[in-house]
Amino acid sequence: MAAQVQLQPSARCFQLDGNDSVLEAALHAGLSLNYGCSNGKCGLCRARLIAGEVSKIRPHDFVFTEAEKNLGHFLLCSYTAVGDIVVEAAEDAMIPKQQISTRLKKLSPLADEILLLQLQTPRSQRLRFLAGQSVRLRLDSGFAARYPIASCPCDDRNIQFHVRLTQDDEFAQQLATLETNDVVQLTGPIGRFILDDSSQSPLLFLAFETGFAPIKSLIEHAMQLEIGNSIHLQWCAVNTSRHYMRNLVRSWADAFDNFSSTLLAPDGLETDQRSIGGSPELACASIAGACVEHAVEQHTDLSDYDIHVAGPAPFPKLTLDRLRRLGVDKRQLKSLNTP
Ligand code: FES
Repeated sequence: MAAQVQLQPSARCFQLDGNDSVLEAALHAGLSLNYGCSNGKCGLCRARLIAGEVSKIRPHDFVFTEAEKNLGHFLLCSYTAVGDIVVEAAEDAMIPKQQISTRLKKLSPLADEILLLQLQTPRSQRLRFLAGQSVRLRLDSGFAARYPIASCPCDDRNIQFHVRLTQDDEFAQQLATLETNDVVQLTGPIGRFILDDSSQSPLLFLAFETGFAPIKSLIEHAMQLEIGNSIHLQWCAVNTSRHYMRNLVRSWADAFDNFSSTLLAPDGLETDQRSIGGSPELACASIAGACVEHAVEQHTDLSDYDIHVAGPAPFPKLTLDRLRRLGVDKRQLKSLNTP
């Protein structure tokens, strides 16, 4: 059975299926509500029922006073909806930093020298974050680095990252030697590379190689929320083998009318081929330039767009410089350097 849940004061609505808790349904819908343990202990998910009926699906240790119960207070993680309900619950603007001991669940190649890393949190301590945010990862050896999250906040236990394995990145080299169930300390979330929920503007995402990671999180979240904004992804790389999730991008295009994408590599770009074979900075400058020129060709007027740019340095800076020179207002732009 499906029920409709409306949150107050935001008036956002989402669907609750079967016996899911109200919290689970909200997270699946991509909403960011306040919560902590997910199992009835901390009380952080408390909310107030304004209309309709809820039913307890698991016992909880957190105790409400009689007065609170009479006012309709309940725990979002421990109750489901019996028919349509209206609930008063605050949605998070800023999520406090959390420290979590995670375990490595998966480490597998995505492309040559690019790894998929999946960490799992304990059941009782899931990571609350917004799409596009990053975390700091620390290994037992003491090596630490900041990485953008590549997965959607709708799965708050299985946190994914795209790791570029370069010779001079000692953290990535050590990470590549970890085994299943090894501990990785995670602190976060960090950063404001997030969607502006209040904006109706079309969204343009410019990614270079593993800059796709935070942009994947943003796009999956936007799709989960079923936002009406049109979404265009432009994913640039030094060669087509670095478009390591092209099937996923294709599936987005098949499933969502408002999504389109362009995957660009030097053979399809009007770049200076000599510079691609030269220093990495020159190659990056050339690709950044071609990426922006392609964006301008496709979207003649960029003044309407919210633009997110992500990738290893110096791609974000070079791209932003080009966009600013084209007259794009800095308030439309968000950028992120990825490892
Ligand atoms: S999240 Fe802790 S009690 Fe619901």
